Amino acid sequence: MFLAASLAVCGCSVSNGGAVAERGAAEDAAVMGSDLSLQELMAHVMQRNAIQMWNWQAFVSDGTGAHSTVPRTDEEWEDAESDALTVGELARTIQQAPYRVDDPMWSKKAQALQAAAAKVAKAAEVRDEDAFLAAGASVNDACVSCHYRFAPQLEGPEPTASPSEAGQG
Ligand code: HEC
Repeated sequence: MFLAASLAVCGCSVSNGGAVAERGAAEDAAVMGSDLSLQELMAHVMQRNAIQMWNWQAFVSDGTGAHSTVPRTDEEWEDAESDALTVGELARTIQQAPYRVDDPMWSKKAQALQAAAAKVAKAAEVRDEDAFLAAGASVNDACVSCHYRFAPQLEGPEPTASPSEAGQG
């Protein structure tokens, strides 16, 4: 009853009230989960949106020299902020079912990504170019750090911080 009423409020067809209510419940369940695997979410959504954000933080070379792609206009800064907020929301998404991994390190690393993306967004909001670039790099660090722990095949061997090795390069 309640479901059918709320469907009516949202403007959905209620010509066959019972069936629609049932289908609505099934659709709700589907919306709560996701058809995307973690791998697909990473490959199609996380990566895509992170690159869109990082595209504001690059240097490109052409015939006239190297140019920064850092936003210049208010509209560009707004777009950069939106891109960073999207990455932040994705960091939140992977802390929830069905993507959450039952390991405190997962939450820690996803939260580090969320925090780094929030810094990019904040820097874009206040047009702080240095902070914007630094936070963008820390987003990358957060991605890589989680991959080392949970998908090491993606990143190759993790550099160790031992003093003997640190001296070698
Ligand atoms: C909390 C952990 C975590 C964070 C943070 C994270 N990833 Fe991932 N990522 C994974 C795991 C685990 C996989 C492997 C998924 C699989 O193959 O099932 C993966 C896979 C990937 C892949 C490979 C997908 C493929 O085609 O196999 C890409 C690309 C990727 N991540 C990009 C990113 C980017 C970009 C960021 C940061 C903006 C990021 N990830 C942040 C855990 C994380």
